Amino acid sequence: MFHPKLFENRNVVVTGAGRGIGLEVARQFLDCGGHVLVHTGRDSDRQLPDFLLVAEEERRAFLVPGDFSSHDGVRLFAAAAAALFERVDVLVNNAGTMVGRFPAGDLTDEQYETVVRLNQTSVVEITRALLPQLKASGQAAIVNTISISALTGGSPGSAVYSASKAFVATYSKALARELAPDGIRVNCVSPGTIATDFHERYSSREKLEQTRKSIPLQRLGTPEDCAPAYLFLASPLLSGYITGQTVEINGGQLIC
Ligand SMILES: NC(=O)c1ccc[n+]([C@@H]2O[C@H](COP(=O)([O-])OP(=O)(O)OC[C@H]3O[C@@H](n4cnc5c(N)ncnc54)[C@H](OP(=O)(O)O)[C@@H]3O)[C@@H](O)[C@H]2O)c1
Repeated sequence: MFHPKLFENRNVVVTGAGRGIGLEVARQFLDCGGHVLVHTGRDSDRQLPDFLLVAEEERRAFLVPGDFSSHDGVRLFAAAAAALFERVDVLVNNAGTMVGRFPAGDLTDEQYETVVRLNQTSVVEITRALLPQLKASGQAAIVNTISISALTGGSPGSAVYSASKAFVATYSKALARELAPDGIRVNCVSPGTIATDFHERYSSREKLEQTRKSIPLQRLGTPEDCAPAYLFLASPLLSGYITGQTVEINGGQLIC
């Protein structure tokens, strides 16, 4: 889709890329010539598609698992990334999930902390750890995955998840100003309802069908609908004058 050399000689880190949106983002960066550290998720035994295994053999992809629900998991992952790349040109903080639907009155301290640690704290910690490598690029880009729910508040049981995505949205805007002198742009991609394993876990078929009907484009999104926005925001050639912004990918589900 994009030019096959758009990310030639560029080092890219994509978290949450063993499946779903992140996997497609990693695939498209690889197709455009990038060297991609693919965070494969929590499970080091996850079955991965052939294109990743081939890219790993050719030393274009570097597969690193890591559980971001603990400080140590994030620390070890960031250390592996820093050891692999002296320079990071693109950081995509995409790993995240709702963890569960937790009614406000029943939410335990542990559930609260797990959701916040994964969706919010890990983004801050990975970004902080990789700042020296991002600064070394001279024209780096950070692209953070947020959610339509950062604006709408989401649906019952998702309050803490939605609020953690709103945190990342605001954090990204502040970083965009703070890091501009270092040549680092910071933007977000905000998916609407995208058909991935995410919804297999947290939404019933009926709820998804109801949502589909309410979307002006009359269909749910796909990872392929989302990935090009990440590449666009990551490329200084295509978006060198864009920072502190969010691209909403939702088929018109939210127009404001
Ligand atoms: N699908 C949607 O409609 C939608 C809408 C708005 C925002 N989003 C956001 O988009 C991003 C990608 O979601 P997706 O739809 O592609 O979902 P997905 O298919 O469930 O993928 C989520 C990714 O995050 C990783 N992850 C989850 N928990 C983790 C943990 N504790 N430690 C490390 N990695 C973890 C997963 O790894 P494992 O394989 O180990 O679980 C997986 O790689 C997420 O940030 C999500 O919040 C999705």
